[in-house]
Amino acid sequence: MTSGKRIFMVFLGAPGSGKGTQARMLCDKLGIPQISTGDLFRYNLKNGTKLGLLAKTYIDRGELVPDEVTVSMVEDRLTNPDCSGGAVFDGFPRNLAQTVALEKMLAADGGVSLVPILEVDDDVVMRRITGRRVCRACGAVYHVDYSPPKHEGICDLDGGELYLRDDDHPETVKNRLFVYYKQTSPLIGYYFAKGLLAEIDGMQAPEQVQTALVELCRARGIETAG
Ligand code: AP5
Ligand code: MG
Ligand code: ZN
Repeated sequence: MTSGKRIFMVFLGAPGSGKGTQARMLCDKLGIPQISTGDLFRYNLKNGTKLGLLAKTYIDRGELVPDEVTVSMVEDRLTNPDCSGGAVFDGFPRNLAQTVALEKMLAADGGVSLVPILEVDDDVVMRRITGRRVCRACGAVYHVDYSPPKHEGICDLDGGELYLRDDDHPETVKNRLFVYYKQTSPLIGYYFAKGLLAEIDGMQAPEQVQTALVELCRARGIETAG
């Protein structure tokens, strides 16, 4: 972690482009937490909270959860002491209103530091998502072909059951992609204009993508361990 200034990174990229996979790996090296709004909604749903049940009605259709709900959840998450050095956002912001809200939240810290975008073709995205399996217990992410668990259907880390997310069926994925291009892709231009955008080839193997991200951090003066 860089001493002094807090680091806030925003991962952009289509559904299935590898945001969660890469953000998780990079967070370990930066010593700051990953904030995935999708994971936070799923955690709430698992625990049967009102927020989780509300979010599910949107997630199952591949639509965005309303901004006021999402923004206040992120504000609340940022008050956690583990964010003292900053955070890596994965799946947030997802439209211009959320982007403006994030700017306000980070105003005292000089705003977002860096915005990597993971570029992956749509047909690859579809294969990645439909083959993804997630651990019910710890949330670890696998892929039936690209990163399979040692034993089919079982998490290597804790023996938890692996499942297919309800929103990972092809029809819902198509709508998620549509929502991404319509509502989230304008953020590419927004962050480009601010000089924060960095394009990363997301078609490479996960370790190569991670290497590119570590090099990018170093080039921008963000310290990484390992
Ligand atoms: P969210 O959970 O954020 O889903 P998403 O953006 O659709 O992204 P994914 O999690 O599907 O993909 P990813 O890019 O993280 O890829 P991953 O690393 O898993 O959001 C879900 C829903 O919640 C939204 O649709 C919306 O309803 C709601 N929501 C969330 N945030 C919101 C917000 N801010 N506002 C409003 N609503 C919000 O990788 C995918 C698969 O590919 C895995 O199996 C992985 O093992 C594999 N893989 C990864 N990288 C590689 C690689 N390099 N090579 C081969 N395989 C790879
Ligand atoms: Mg994800
Ligand atoms: Zn697990």
